[in-house]
Amino acid sequence: MKPIIKILALSGSIRKSSLNVKLLKLAVTAIQEHEVQVTHIDLRDFPLPIYDGDLEEASGVPQNARALRELLLAHDGLLIASPEYNGSVTALLKNTLDWCSRPADGIDGLAPFRGKAVGLMSASLSPFGGLRGIIDLRGIMMKLGAVVLSDDVALPSAQHAFDSFDAFVDPNAGKLVKQFTSNLIGLSAKLQSTSDAFSL
Ligand SMILES: Cc1cc2nc3c(=O)[nH]c(=O)nc-3n(C[C@H](O)[C@H](O)[C@H](O)COP(=O)(O)O)c2cc1C
Repeated sequence: MKPIIKILALSGSIRKSSLNVKLLKLAVTAIQEHEVQVTHIDLRDFPLPIYDGDLEEASGVPQNARALRELLLAHDGLLIASPEYNGSVTALLKNTLDWCSRPADGIDGLAPFRGKAVGLMSASLSPFGGLRGIIDLRGIMMKLGAVVLSDDVALPSAQHAFDSFDAFVDPNAGKLVKQFTSNLIGLSAKLQSTSDAFSL
């Protein structure tokens, strides 16, 4: 029997009316059309202090970062929707990734990311759809050892992209997200079978 693919979905914005959370929810719905398990988490449920080496030395990696590391380890793929702030990654997302890349519980720092399929999306107010943030995030995820899907979703002028039911105004955006999520599932499956073969 084929093992089920598991994808973890999170947003780099925890704002109540976050456009990125709206985009993420539509992508999660698209994933649910496949035989795939998707876990949508809210980073608000995993608050972390700003990374501080002294704090780590005194108290270790915080429980929320260790819980996030466990979640990452338990999933084959990671789907991130994040705004760009000043042309780069949000502090929330970068800080979360920094804590999650610290060794903990006898497991090396990069283990939660190594060989993991990652899909990147961004919704922004600008006509570029947060593309610069995606480029930076792609570099970070690759540095962590993840395998980042070559295509991504950059949703421009996102304040006009959703209707009152939080559905896409433009049906082409929906088609793009469906194709993107199915590519992410395909990459996750490919990497899962490769890692299964290596662990034989
Ligand atoms: C500190 C800060 C920096 C921002 N920098 C950019 C930027 O570089 N490019 C951009 O397109 N939008 C930028 N924005 C606007 C965001 O696109 C907008 O706030 C967006 O709604 C944030 O995503 P969210 O709705 O998911 O929270 C910035 C917003 C903040 C608060």
